[in-house]
Amino acid sequence: MLRSTSVHWHGIFQRGSAWADGAAAITQCPISPNNSFSYEFSAPKQAGTFWYHSHFGTQYCDGLRGPLVVYDPKDPHRLLYDVDDESTIITLSDWYHFPAPSLIPRVIAESTLINGKGRYGGGPKVDLAVVDVQKGRRYRFRLLSLSCEPNYIFSIGGHKLKIIEADGENVLPVIVDSLQIFAGQRYSFVLTANRPVDNYWIRSLPDSGKHGLDQGFEGGLNSAILRYRGAPRVEPSQTKFYPPSKPIFLKETDLHPLLPTRVPGRPFAGGADINFNLALGFDPEKFSYTVNGAYYADPPIPVLLQIMSGARSPQELLPQGAVVTLPKNKVVEISIPGGIIGGAHPFHLHGVWKHSFYVVKSAGNHTRHNYVNPVIRDVTSIGEAGSNTTIRFVTDNPGPWVFHCHIDFHVKMGMAIVFVVDPEKASSSYVPAAWDTLCPSYNDLAPSAT
Ligand code: C2O
Ligand code: CU
Repeated sequence: MLRSTSVHWHGIFQRGSAWADGAAAITQCPISPNNSFSYEFSAPKQAGTFWYHSHFGTQYCDGLRGPLVVYDPKDPHRLLYDVDDESTIITLSDWYHFPAPSLIPRVIAESTLINGKGRYGGGPKVDLAVVDVQKGRRYRFRLLSLSCEPNYIFSIGGHKLKIIEADGENVLPVIVDSLQIFAGQRYSFVLTANRPVDNYWIRSLPDSGKHGLDQGFEGGLNSAILRYRGAPRVEPSQTKFYPPSKPIFLKETDLHPLLPTRVPGRPFAGGADINFNLALGFDPEKFSYTVNGAYYADPPIPVLLQIMSGARSPQELLPQGAVVTLPKNKVVEISIPGGIIGGAHPFHLHGVWKHSFYVVKSAGNHTRHNYVNPVIRDVTSIGEAGSNTTIRFVTDNPGPWVFHCHIDFHVKMGMAIVFVVDPEKASSSYVPAAWDTLCPSYNDLAPSAT
């Protein structure tokens, strides 16, 4: 069956190019079947690990997703943590046996795919992904969660992971045995191949789905193989090289920017220009999430086109109640309580000029505000009940930018809000001629357009 699509470049700021952000119903009409559309954008000073995925309905869950790496010839890590090879990419994704739209409300992944390969319970013993290393060498591995739903506990048996990047931002190195990675997040870590020549399990255990944490990686589920050159072409034994019994687990509060940076706004809670709470809710009758009382649903006209057609105020903008307008060059602080049914929702923000958001308070019951050196990233989990997450960002990029849970099924269920930064400026943004033609009845839809 032919379907429409759109492609989002996750983590790329889209400076002055809101039209190329790829969010269907926000920054463009979808690309219809048999049509084509070219995205054009630049990413100055953005080097690191990103990804691309369909941003039309729940389409990326069905496969339109992949890694996007921007290499920096002058990578500041080069001097500090030289590696012999940085070509390895490890993608984690959830695999379903039915098309995504049919999965709601019971979303149950059959398995985890690592670099596109994986097994499901009771299924054939297909080959697993193999990551080759050579003893004595250091590698920069890029780990991406392309997940639509689960988060993963990731580890590589017998090996330490030295984290050096989170979501396209370099961080001071942190050495861990294992980490939790949420939908949309990325990490780079240095792995030193200093263990005996052998095969080792790469494990990615999902928090939900048919074969979650409890059933681990029995029979090679949720796993791949790290293979030293010279090791036999077999699977590791099931039990050898578990992570240590008291593994060091990555905490988001241990991540700090590699280069010193200044958190925008004044250094205390509520010290931004604009401070607000995001109250999340769940309406069991509508089986929908609410954000500050509103349900997000794709508007019939993309928000960018609404603005270009003259709409300016939140009252005029659709979806009703789910659009917030923000003035330009202000510091925004958003505090988000955790514990909303459906898991530790990972929130993602589109569109900034210089930096993604500063996680001034990470989820978790014992974390404090950090206005000195918090991690800067583009997806953070808001955690479980009792938790509060606080982020800051600067409204330095005019355009309509969506802020949403990266569990794609939850967006479909309303868990998103659109920030329109500087509507006046955004209304006169450049769009290529081809962008106009994506919306077939532009003039009928937007009578006030000139
Ligand atoms: Cu990775 Cu709104 O997306
Ligand atoms: Cu969610």
